[in-house]
Amino acid sequence: MLVSCWSPKGGSGTTVVAGVLALLAARSSASGALIVDVVGDVPAALGVAEPAGPGVLDWLDATTDVGDDALPRLEVDVGRRLRLLARGGRDVSGGAGGVRRAEALAAALVADSRPVIADCGTADRSPGRELASGATLSLAVLRPCYLALRRALAAPLRPDGVVLVTEPGRALQGRDVEDVLGVPVWAEVPLDPAVARAVDAGLLAARLPRPAERALDRALNAVPR
Ligand SMILES: Nc1ncnc2c1ncn2[C@@H]1O[C@H](COP(=O)(O)OP(=O)(O)OP(=O)(O)O)[C@@H](O)[C@H]1O
Ligand SMILES: [Mg+2]
Repeated sequence: MLVSCWSPKGGSGTTVVAGVLALLAARSSASGALIVDVVGDVPAALGVAEPAGPGVLDWLDATTDVGDDALPRLEVDVGRRLRLLARGGRDVSGGAGGVRRAEALAAALVADSRPVIADCGTADRSPGRELASGATLSLAVLRPCYLALRRALAAPLRPDGVVLVTEPGRALQGRDVEDVLGVPVWAEVPLDPAVARAVDAGLLAARLPRPAERALDRALNAVPR
């Protein structure tokens, strides 16, 4: 099962939502979970060491015939039953890799028996775009903001649902977002200073703030398997 998180507007909270979903999935799955990072912010957001070895961009860029069976060898353990397929890409030129290879990556992650959560960034390029469009569940992370909704409408991808990072005082509500985009709001995560502080201190994995945990736990339980 592959749940892809992306946002048509940067800085919306995508990496945090993906990180929290992955921590919760790892906690509730007997086989643990995998987080795939195509942008490079996940280790810092979770407060774990930056993996030094190759990652997903290197797999995409491999010139020799490196198959799906090589993917598990690129994973690193980040504790709490969560494994990380990091961005890598130190030795490749941006990890172009090709659309077909990115689609093969998405298919391999969908077929993984563990829950796999991907941080696809803005999904405006490969491989984020293919991981978002090929996912079991594609979630757009949005603020209840007119500019974000405009971007979501203009995006070449349509999500299956929305994770709304809610802020007090906004005029737009979850129902407005559903009306405009025609997809359900899967979760409403409050904008919570405790979340931002936990990220800044590298303590998100260690001290998951309760409101975000509750909201995303419900979302995870509703994912079709
Ligand atoms: N629920 C939340 N409550 C409070 N702060 C949050 C929340 N989610 C994210 N943030 C903060 O907002 C900022 C942006 O979050 P994040 O990096 O997850 O966004 P992003 O969409 O992944 O951004 P980018 O486009 O740069 O990848 C960070 O400072 C993060 O700590
Ligand atoms: Mg991010």
